[in-house]
Amino acid sequence: MFHALSARIDAILCDAFQALNLPIIHARAAPCSRPELADFQCNGAMPAAKAVGRMPRDIAEAVATRLSTHAAFSEVSMAGPGFINMRLAPSLLAEAAAELLGDLRLGIEDVGQGRLVVIDFGGPNVAKPLHVGHLRSLVIGESLRRLLHAQGWRVIADAHLGDWGLQMGMLTSALRLRDPQLPWFISSFEGPWPDTAPVTLSELERLYPEAAAACRNDPERMAQARADTAALQAGDLGLLALWRSLRALSLQAQQRDFASLGAHFDLLLGESDAQSIIPAMIDDLRTRGMAEESDGALVIDVAQPNDRHDVPPLLLSKQDGAALYATTDLATLVPRVKQMQAACVIYVVDQRQALHFEQVFRAAEKAGFKDGVQLEHVGFGTVNGPDGKPYKTRQGGVARLADLLDEAVAKAAERMAQSGHGAGFSEEEKHQLARKVGIAAVKFADLSGDRLSGYIFDPDRLVSFEGRTGPYLQYACVRIQSIQHKAKDHGVPVGLAMPEARTERELLLACLAFPDAVAEAARQRQPGVLAEYAFELAQRFSRFYAECPVLAAERAEQRAARLAICHLTGLLLARSLNLLGIDVPERM
Ligand code: ARG
Repeated sequence: MFHALSARIDAILCDAFQALNLPIIHARAAPCSRPELADFQCNGAMPAAKAVGRMPRDIAEAVATRLSTHAAFSEVSMAGPGFINMRLAPSLLAEAAAELLGDLRLGIEDVGQGRLVVIDFGGPNVAKPLHVGHLRSLVIGESLRRLLHAQGWRVIADAHLGDWGLQMGMLTSALRLRDPQLPWFISSFEGPWPDTAPVTLSELERLYPEAAAACRNDPERMAQARADTAALQAGDLGLLALWRSLRALSLQAQQRDFASLGAHFDLLLGESDAQSIIPAMIDDLRTRGMAEESDGALVIDVAQPNDRHDVPPLLLSKQDGAALYATTDLATLVPRVKQMQAACVIYVVDQRQALHFEQVFRAAEKAGFKDGVQLEHVGFGTVNGPDGKPYKTRQGGVARLADLLDEAVAKAAERMAQSGHGAGFSEEEKHQLARKVGIAAVKFADLSGDRLSGYIFDPDRLVSFEGRTGPYLQYACVRIQSIQHKAKDHGVPVGLAMPEARTERELLLACLAFPDAVAEAARQRQPGVLAEYAFELAQRFSRFYAECPVLAAERAEQRAARLAICHLTGLLLARSLNLLGIDVPERM
């Protein structure tokens, strides 16, 4: 089994603490906050001293003395109020790096052990094109899908399409108004109904906002929409056939956007798929006394005595019995838990829906649907415009996802022309490269930092070959590959040796931090942790490469060792980008 560097050091610290009769829970090391002083530091002497009633500096001194004879360290010292600073022995770095390179999983721990996690992300609504609000769910969700899969989980990604409810009735009633003679609306029509929708995609995308506005302004139109919704939900065959054709039409376009972003789904189920179990679920909840009447509606009280904020009851059904968002989410959980046997269900949805998920999770617990399954809402902040408010188009409308990506791709093409990337490519190759670069830029910006904070979408800044950007990382990857390519004539790299130069050992240390970066990113459901790691790794590679000639190294074994470091860095950088869902071009 592979041991992450931090785990190896913790084990050594543990032995030392134990030998000195100190509580081993404090025997923990972390990368040193000041790398110029040490590689790792342990702050455990302070709490350990408190526990045994001695002076922190004495404890730190004793631990440091003990550790300094250990082969893993080249230097151990005590500093400040009782910090233990450790410099790792070059032999340990070389040995650990060789082990990492030889491990097929690149040190990624098998956390999932074959358990199932369902990731619910994307969640677009039928008839609406994907907009900027879907970007983060798709990008963060896809990265979590890859991270958890790499950690040994079985993963089912489900798009949970918003394909049911009033919006569908709004559409069908608007179509009926336009053309009552369509076969779907004729009660005596016996089918088969046409498979294709009576509108094109762009007509559909225009129709929906029109219909929604009409319903808002005209009670008559709203009544028609409600009537259609009720008829559809009651199983009207014509309306169902029409609904199916509209769903398929809009899904086609949505799948194109999923593909642009490289988001993969195992299931394209939707709200409609949960409807058949809702009546029985409601009956059951009512008989078991979980659901109660309130102002003519049926609700589940989910407030808890220690609530610091108000958690209103979950609305199960209104007077007219129409399906509700929360009811559908509750019902969708049943097959995920019972049939699929998920151990964990993760919802990657805008943080503004936090209360909704709180209500659903509590209701699931109360109703006994949870069955030990871990339910998590992985929220995220909004994509903002330059004014710091949710991003809008210049006309003030909601920005389409495809337009947003196109804007980034156009910027990428412009930057490529300025910087000489893609020089000598055919027009088609340039176009392909600009797409990869532009989309990587958007994805990296979206994944960076804490997912709960929003960020400003500024193509000028995020599409750059310099700094903390997707294109910078892509280029770092391509550069390493090209070094390796050129090295082919020099024979195969024989193996990692002890680092000589400072930048070389710092690069090795960064390589060795990969397993921990993946583990943390997955544990916190924060791909940003891995994004930051990848950036740091690429930077350390640049510094190493600037200082240490690789192909032109003085000695043959030095060249071989440095090539091996390039190889390891290349693997780890490529794997990091892959786990973030960022494609790397072959050349750029
Ligand atoms: N369709 C929903 C919306 O547009 C998002 C769905 C999120 N997933 C869920 N299981 N509720 O707001």
